[in-house]
Amino acid sequence: MTKAIRVHEAGGPEVMKWEDVEVGDPAPREVRIKQKAVGLNYIDVYFRSGLYPIEFPSIIGMEAAGVIDAVGEGVTEFKAGDRVAYPMVPGAYTEARCMPTLKVVKLPDAISDETAAAMMLKGLTAQYLLFRTYKVQPGDNILVYAAAGGVGLILCQWAKKLGANIIGCVGSDEKAELAKDNGCDHIIMYRDENIPTRVKEITDGKGVAVAYDSIGKATFMDSLDSLQPFGTMVTYGNASGKVAPFDPGILAPKGSLYVTRPTLGTHTSTRELVLDGTKHLFDAVTSGDVKINVNQTYAMSDAAQAHADLEDRKTTGSTVFTI
Ligand SMILES: NC(=O)c1ccc[n+]([C@@H]2O[C@H](COP(=O)([O-])OP(=O)(O)OC[C@H]3O[C@@H](n4cnc5c(N)ncnc54)[C@H](OP(=O)(O)O)[C@@H]3O)[C@@H](O)[C@H]2O)c1
Repeated sequence: MTKAIRVHEAGGPEVMKWEDVEVGDPAPREVRIKQKAVGLNYIDVYFRSGLYPIEFPSIIGMEAAGVIDAVGEGVTEFKAGDRVAYPMVPGAYTEARCMPTLKVVKLPDAISDETAAAMMLKGLTAQYLLFRTYKVQPGDNILVYAAAGGVGLILCQWAKKLGANIIGCVGSDEKAELAKDNGCDHIIMYRDENIPTRVKEITDGKGVAVAYDSIGKATFMDSLDSLQPFGTMVTYGNASGKVAPFDPGILAPKGSLYVTRPTLGTHTSTRELVLDGTKHLFDAVTSGDVKINVNQTYAMSDAAQAHADLEDRKTTGSTVFTI
């Protein structure tokens, strides 16, 4: 029997239950993966809490790494024994699962299961944000929220390699040090400091070319007010709640701004996008340009504690469940 974390109703961390589930054999064009490590992501909280609706009961979780132990009819790209990982496929909080191959990729020997589970979703997000959503150029002033978080630490290291001037927003002194060690040039303690005022001070009144805002409701207007003319607001997460509806007319007097709300779902919706983004990410990690910080590990049966710590802003970098 396989163990998994299932959610039976929307609510706090306590609604997650460690239960027996049936896995079965892979269907045509599916593989079965014996999972070794599973990544924790903020989107798991949105599904568990009801911010993003799901059917019940559901196995939550969106990324993991492991070994293929069976392949379904018609699968030619993978075989039993392949080390693999995937991002953005619901149902990851489990010891084993069957799944379609669209988002499954083979792992190079140099990337461990733990590192893969810590970076597939967060690293591919950093990749599309920096290279597709807004193409960061040398010398760009950029604003990164939750700079010491899972996506944040990867985004900052990679943006530094691109030559950006990075302003990181963090919630504690310890996170400020970590963000600086991972590429941030300037820090805003955004629990206490006014973000647009500090951005204007740091950039000599110019503002930032792009704001990577994962906080949502609490910071949306501050991000718009921190942008330079023609700047891009990338609202890509809701850690503080969903952004309230707004009048696009406000973007004109603030400097003909652009606003986008991207998701890794679209950026991994074809095999080409998955392979292109993954190659880029694996190259960045194996070359040492980007280091994956696995700063917390939990047994998967302790998922409730991990969610509580993530929501209480206690974690930094990536968090991985071991199996
Ligand atoms: N759209 C996409 O494709 C995509 C993909 C991946 C992730 N995301 C988003 O990116 C963000 C980061 O994800 P992650 O998994 O790497 O998480 P994370 O950044 O490691 O953790 C969330 C961080 O958000 C900050 N935060 C600010 N206000 C908060 C609040 N009210 N409640 C909780 N945390 C708050 C905290 O850092 P401080 O203490 O420093 O403020 C906290 O540590 C999330 O919003 C997630 O939804 C979006």
